[in-house]
Amino acid sequence: MLREITASSLAEAAGIIKNGGLVVFPTETVYGLGADAFNAEAVKRVYAAKGRPPDNPLILHVNFFCEIEPYVTAASETTKKLVGSFWPGPLTLVLNKSEAFPKDACMGIDTVAVRSPSNETARKLIELSGRIIAAPSANKSGKPSPTCAAHAEADLAGEADMILDGGETAIGLESTVLDCTGAKPLILRLGAVTAEQIESVLGVPVSASGGGNGTPKSPGVKYKHYSPEAEMTVVKGAKTDVLKYFTGILNGAVSGRPVGFMAASTVSRRLLAEKKWECLPGIASAWKTVYSDAEFFLFDMGPEKSPETAAKKIFSILRHMDCCGAGKIFCEAFDESGAGAAVMDRLLKAAGGNLTDLTRP
Ligand code: TXA
Ligand code: MG
Repeated sequence: MLREITASSLAEAAGIIKNGGLVVFPTETVYGLGADAFNAEAVKRVYAAKGRPPDNPLILHVNFFCEIEPYVTAASETTKKLVGSFWPGPLTLVLNKSEAFPKDACMGIDTVAVRSPSNETARKLIELSGRIIAAPSANKSGKPSPTCAAHAEADLAGEADMILDGGETAIGLESTVLDCTGAKPLILRLGAVTAEQIESVLGVPVSASGGGNGTPKSPGVKYKHYSPEAEMTVVKGAKTDVLKYFTGILNGAVSGRPVGFMAASTVSRRLLAEKKWECLPGIASAWKTVYSDAEFFLFDMGPEKSPETAAKKIFSILRHMDCCGAGKIFCEAFDESGAGAAVMDRLLKAAGGNLTDLTRP
C-alpha cells in the first residue's frame, strides 16, 4: 500500500527505520529502499528483498557531512570542495572508512559510498530516524530503477514495511558515483552531476571508469542493469537516417511480438505522420499502431536538446515496454555531451551495449 507523505506517515516511517524495518522513500534521483545502515540484520533484509548480490555495497544517505565524518578518514580538500558545491544533491562520494566504522556493517570493503539527498521527504526521514540510511534503488536487481512509487510497489510490495509516495522523482537517473580514494577522482557511475561540472569545481580533469580489468572499482558495474525483457538496439545517426531506419522497420512489419520505438521529439513526430497511431491511455507522449498484423509502440523521450527530459522518462518507458510485451526496442541515441552522457550510459546498459551506428559507412 502506498502512503501519502504527511507528518504522521513520516513519523511512522522513521519509527520503522529505527526498529530495523525497511522503508521505500523518494529521493531526487530515484526511489530508495532504506534501512538503518548500522543494523546488520536490517541491511541483510535489503539484500534479500532486492535479490542483490552480497558483494555489491550500498550507498549511505546523510543530511550533513558531519554525520558520516567519524566513520571516514580525514576529508581531503577535494572532498570538502565537492561536498561544498554539490551537497545536498545527486553526487555520491566513495571515501575510505575509518577505524570507527562498525565492523559488522562493512559490507566487505574498506571504502564507503555516501550521499546527501536534496529531496525533502528523504531529508525528513533521515532527520526523524536519527540514523544513517543505507538505500539502494528500490527495484529488484536487474530491473530499471523506480522513478515513481508504483514502480517500487510492483517490485517490492510485501518486502518493504512501508512505501512513501512522493510522486515522480525530479531527475529520474541514479546519482553520479565519484571515487575520491585515489590520487585523482574517478567517476564510477555517470549521473546528473556531470564530469564537466566536477571539473569546473576541482580545476582538474576527471575521467570515468568503465570498470576495467580485474576487480571493478564499483562492484555494481559488473552486474547486468536496467534490462527490459525486449532485445534493445540504440540507433545513432543523423535525424533523417534514424527516421529512415525506423520507418523501414515500421513498413517491413512482420507479425510477432510488438516492436517499441523510443525517440526524441523530431523523429517521434515524423514517425507519427507515417501511420495512424492512437494514444496509449494514462501515459503522456506514447502511442500504439497496428500495421500488417504487427503491433508497434512509440514513446517520445522529449526534445533532443533536453537530455534532462529523457533522463526523467527512460526507466518508466522501459517498464512500459515490458508491460506492452515488446520483443524488440529501437531507441534513438542522444548526444553524449553534458547530461546526455548519463542518458546514453543507461540506454546502452539497457541495450547490453547493442549500438547501430549509422554515421559509419
Ligand atoms: O541515486 C542513487 O544513488 C540511488 C538513490 C536511492 O540514492 N541509489 C542507488 O543505489 O542507485 P544502488 O545501490 O542502486 O547503486 C549504488 C552503486 C552501485 O553501483 C554500487 O556498486 C556502488 O554504488 N557503490 C556502493 N558502494 C561503493 C563503494 N564503496 N565503492 C564503489 N562503488 C560503490
Ligand atoms: Mg540500483
